[in-house]
Order: sequence, then structure tokens, then C-alpha cells
Amino acid sequence: ADGAAVPALVIGSGYGGSVAALRLAQAGVDVHMVEMGMAWDTPGSDGKIFANTTAPDYRSFWLRTRTKQPLSSFLGFPIDKDVPRFTGVLDAEEFAGITVYQGRGVGGGSLVNGGMAVTPRRENFGAVLPTVNADEMYATYYPRANTGLGVAHVDPAWWESAACYQYARVGRKHAQRSGFPFVFVPNVYDWEYMKQEATGNVPKSALVGEVLYGNNHGKKTLQKTYLARAAQTGRVTVSPLHRVTSVAPAAGGGYTVAIEQLDTTGAVTATKAVTADRVFFAAGSVGTTKLLVKLKAKGQLPLLNGEIGKGWGDNGNVMCGRANHMWDATGKLQASMPTAGIDNWAAGGAFAEVAPLPTGIETYASFYLSITRNPNRAAFTWNAAAGRVDLNWQTAWKQPSIDAAKTIFDKINAKEGTIYRTDLFGGSKIWGDHLTYHPLGGAVLGKATDNYGRLHGHAGLYVIDGALIPGNAGVNPFVTITALAERNIERIIAADF
Ligand code: FDA
Repeated sequence: ADGAAVPALVIGSGYGGSVAALRLAQAGVDVHMVEMGMAWDTPGSDGKIFANTTAPDYRSFWLRTRTKQPLSSFLGFPIDKDVPRFTGVLDAEEFAGITVYQGRGVGGGSLVNGGMAVTPRRENFGAVLPTVNADEMYATYYPRANTGLGVAHVDPAWWESAACYQYARVGRKHAQRSGFPFVFVPNVYDWEYMKQEATGNVPKSALVGEVLYGNNHGKKTLQKTYLARAAQTGRVTVSPLHRVTSVAPAAGGGYTVAIEQLDTTGAVTATKAVTADRVFFAAGSVGTTKLLVKLKAKGQLPLLNGEIGKGWGDNGNVMCGRANHMWDATGKLQASMPTAGIDNWAAGGAFAEVAPLPTGIETYASFYLSITRNPNRAAFTWNAAAGRVDLNWQTAWKQPSIDAAKTIFDKINAKEGTIYRTDLFGGSKIWGDHLTYHPLGGAVLGKATDNYGRLHGHAGLYVIDGALIPGNAGVNPFVTITALAERNIERIIAADF
């Protein structure tokens, strides 16, 4: 409520925010979470909370009047369509050279992501977070994060025969025939539930392609894990459809946090101010960094240092499809939850998720989201004339990602006698190089903050989300974001509270 005072305020309810809220509450601290997206706890008139990936509707996109699907065409035909403007679950946020996809709602990215829960290889960790003690991460914080998130492997015997993973078995065959390591990766989907979907005993979710616009069943989102446990403490309140616009030092100590209440058209229906002793920025790499860049430039937080806004990367994301021969059908039934990847990181700088293309028809396509060692980093800056934060990423900066992905797929195409698909991204593009699912950085650990996420310049302000990670995690990032948050909040609770 307007005028309230809280000991700890958390901006955003994704991975970093959920870890912070749970651990603070368990330590006896009352926490207020402010989340600009919806609660996603109430079904629509069709009885479902979320829309299907194949039929986006008003629930699917954050404040757009036309969908902006990551695969903008299919079989060469454009597939985007008009939708009513609504505070939907997936934000396709457009910057000059890149569209950044993000989850919106209580649970953040966990509402829309593929659930692929990858712990980076130990030998690669030093390149991800050079100032963090890797022994502690692998002994304590990665295991804690994996347990807290409910990470589990698919049953390999079931996977070998399940129709819905034919596409992944084709992916394995092609990887192995070209000599690439094929690795199984865990997921947060409830595998027992998926088996029940396959036998027709429960309402289908992953097996009808639900993922990008939310899963109605089966996926262990943060709502079912960290946030459920946080709620059980009785110390955590969450305000959905509330957006933080400012944080500034308060006269009597602590911070004044300015908040806008939104309706489902995105209109501001009220503005509120609360005071907080401590504020945790957990609005995601883009959300946190946009706030900090604006607050530094406009003088609300003038003592933030010159690293704010820097070190942003796209985790080297690039997508592509391959056209298989008729004897390598990938299946009209495809589970929307990935289970595997092709690991050519050491030799070629690419780790390719064998991704589903759940269209409901046979496409003979193999589809991949590659994470690559792209060294390019962008910066967010305040554009005073336009009154917004800009990002200077350029589409051409994806070239190192394309080159790295080609180390895998040129070889597979040569071996199999196949070609790239050109019908998925509009025009005759081969590479999905206009987007990322994995924004990272902008308030980098050890640069904009100390080695535990305390912002330099203003005591009692913390960053605890993907903004801390310097642009690339080498694998899908949410396990690393969660583990780093677990490490940092433990230290912050012990030393600062
Ligand atoms: P996250 O983005 O989760 O949460 C930030 C929250 O803050 C959001 O809910 C947002 O609405 C809110 N917020 C922002 N600004 C605010 C403000 N001013 N006021 C109030 N609230 C505000 N990763 C992975 O490891 N495996 C995978 O399979 C996938 N797949 C995948 C698919 C798709 C389609 C996407 C978009 C992303 C993925 N990811 C993924 C990425 C993963 O989801 C992502 O890295 C994490 O969600 C980031 O966690 P954070 O805690 O940093 O922020």
C-alpha cells in the first residue's frame, strides 16, 4: 500500500528475486515483491491459464497489438497476427539490433522458458564468473539450486521409445554420425506427468506443444517451487501488475521506491511510494539494467559507478533449422521440453540445444538453439531526448555465433547430404540472428557490484539476477542465475542483516 515501510523490497519475481525472497523470509525478514506482470493464477474463458504455442491470443504477448513470434514464418508463410493489447506473458522487447524475449508475471522467465536446466561444465566455469569460488559453487550452490528448482533427468528407457522424442533421437543420430558429443540435459518438467500425458491419463501440456506462452501443467515453474515455499513462510507478499519506476535514498534512511499499478491494458491506474531499508534488483538483465541506467543518469542514484549498463551479451544465441530426408522424420508429436544438446564448446565454441518444433504436423525439420562463445558485448545508455534506455547491440555482432554454429551444422549437413531450412525466419534467412532468449549482464558482478551483488555507491542496494553475469554462461542460464543468487544471498543475510 502507498506509504508502507518494508525491511526488504524485491523488484521482480524471476529466478534471482524468488531465491532472495525465500532465503530472506526464512531468515525472519519480511519481504515485499513487486512484479509488473500478472499473477497467472486464474483461467480464462477457455478454462486455461495460458494459451497454446500454436494459437497465441491476448494472453501471449506483453502489450503488443500484433504477435512477434520467434519463428516469424512457417513453410515460408508469415504467421504473426493481430491480438488485443494485454499484459501477456511473453515480452518481445525490441532494441535497435535485437529482440529480447522475456517472461512477464509472477515467476518471470520460468513461465515461458523451455525448462532446460544446465549446470555448466566445471572446467568452463572460470570463464563464466571468474571472481567466484568455483569449488563452493559446485559443492554447495549448484546442488542447492538444482534441488530448489526440482531439476531431474528424463527416464532414458522411456525416452528411447517415446514418440514425442523422435526428433531428439534423430538429433542424436545426426550428431553422433558426425562425431559430436551428444549430451542429455536435465529439465524442470515433471517427467512422471509427461509419461501420463503420453498415455492419455491427464490433460496434455508439453505434448500439445505448450511452452512459449506458458505451460498449463507439468512444468515446475518458480510458482511451484521457490515462490510456493516463500509463501509458506508467511513473510512474503507479492504485488502483481505493479512496476517499479524509481528507487532513491529516503530522507530518514533506506530508500523510497516509486511504483505504478497497471491494469491489463498496461494503463497506469495508481502511483504509490513505499520505503524500504534494502532493495533487491531482480527485474532480469534488461529490467534491472534499464532501471539502474535511468536512475544514475537522472540523479536518483548518482553514486552508482561507471560500470552500470555495461557488459551485456545475448549468451551467443542463434537459431537454425535443417531439412531432413524423408527417412529422417522428426515426428508430428514433439514434446516441447528439450532433453539434449550437441556439445562442441571446446572445439567450436557452440553448445546446440536439440529443440522441439511442435507444429502438430510432420515437418522433416531438425531445429536447434545454439549457445555460442560470442565475445561481443553491448551497453545500455540513457537517451535523454527520447526518455528511454537504449542498447547498442548490432545484428552484425551475431556473426561469431553463426560461425560457431556452423562448426556443427555445416558438418552434419555435409555428412547427411542435407541443407539448412530457409522458411522459418522470414525472407529466405537461414539464421535466427535477430533475437535472444538469454539476456545476461548490464550490472556485472565484481564491476557494478562487489563480489556478492552489493551495488557500489549506495549501501543497501543489491543486484541478484541475470544482470550480474557478464554476457555469456556457455549453457542455458537459469541454473547459474539461481546458484549465484543462492551464494550471494547467503553472504548478504549473514553479513548485512
Ligand atoms: P527474469 O526475467 O526471470 O525475471 C525478472 C522479472 O522482473 C520478470 O517477471 C519481469 O516482469 C519483472 N520486472 C522487470 N522489470 C520490472 C519492474 N520495473 N518492476 C517490477 N517488475 C519488473 N533458460 C534456461 O536456463 N533454460 C531454458 O530452457 C530457457 N528457455 C527460455 C525460453 C524462452 C522463450 C525465454 C524467454 C527464456 C528462456 N531461458 C531459458 C532464459 C531464462 O528464462 C532467463 O535466463 C531467466 O528467466 C532470467 O532470470 P532472472 O531472475 O534474471 O530474471
